[in-house]
Amino acid sequence: MLSPASAHGRVFALLSCKGGVGTTLLTVQLGRLLAERWPLSVLIVDWVHPFGDAALLLSTEDPHAHLGDLLRQPERLDSALLDSALLRPHPRLAVLAAAEIPNLPPALQLPTVQRLMALARERFDCILCDCGRQLHSPLLALMQDADRVMPVFQPTLAMIRDARRLLVTVMESGIEPERVLPVLNRMEPRHQAPLDLLEQVLGTRVQHRLPEHPDFAVPLSPSQGHPWPRSLVRLAATLARQPEPQDAPRGILQRWWRKQWRWNPPPS
Ligand SMILES: Nc1ncnc2c1ncn2[C@@H]1O[C@H](COP(=O)(O)OP(=O)(O)OP(=O)(O)O)[C@@H](O)[C@H]1O
Ligand SMILES: [Mg+2]
Repeated sequence: MLSPASAHGRVFALLSCKGGVGTTLLTVQLGRLLAERWPLSVLIVDWVHPFGDAALLLSTEDPHAHLGDLLRQPERLDSALLDSALLRPHPRLAVLAAAEIPNLPPALQLPTVQRLMALARERFDCILCDCGRQLHSPLLALMQDADRVMPVFQPTLAMIRDARRLLVTVMESGIEPERVLPVLNRMEPRHQAPLDLLEQVLGTRVQHRLPEHPDFAVPLSPSQGHPWPRSLVRLAATLARQPEPQDAPRGILQRWWRKQWRWNPPPS
């Protein structure tokens, strides 16, 4: 499944400085983009507990198994077991759904997490981990091994304060500043002025800014020139370490891509 260009999949750990900051939306949209337009084989792993919802945003199917099922049977954890648990919303995009509450093992075991990530790296070009707000030691270890750690925050006072706390925790755990890619979500033009101040408070440069998406009911595509998809494409290019290919898929795949920009509310 790996493309010839990459011997090992690259891991991106996205984490929230506060609930509702946009981490899951960013994870699933980046996953779709990298799978569809670069195109890379992408795995999304939903580590959020409880109530991870990445799979819900990507597929209407119920997974056969989820993260908790895999973590509960470390001795059986191999490629086949991983494969059997994955939902596949697109030929190059797979998602490992979050653990259901009763099934999460009492303590996440570091060797099991490492085994899972090693299997994922063997099989996929990119692994996007939605880590939510979890900073317990197995997930910090996952972040220490990740190629990029991406704290997501918004420009409100409380979120900036928590983003600062989060960044300090991440750095103190031994992750070098050059691997940390802070993402400021829902940045509106009227927030442009205090960016310098904001970076001073954070103690680091804001590497990427995503604007407010006007209305998720309206399909947007990068070719329409709206700042939100254009900004997402730039972020995806940073992660992929190459610009968007000019010969990005056309025809049916492109139509699929455009359709996927539509926000699909969960079934009521
Ligand atoms: N740039 C944006 N523009 C408009 N709406 C956004 C943007 N980013 C996120 N949202 C909206 O904010 C809400 C929360 O997003 P999301 O579920 O991704 O956050 P989260 O950080 O994963 O939350 P949780 O803490 O519940 O896991 C969603 O309704 C999402 O559509
Ligand atoms: Mg979330």
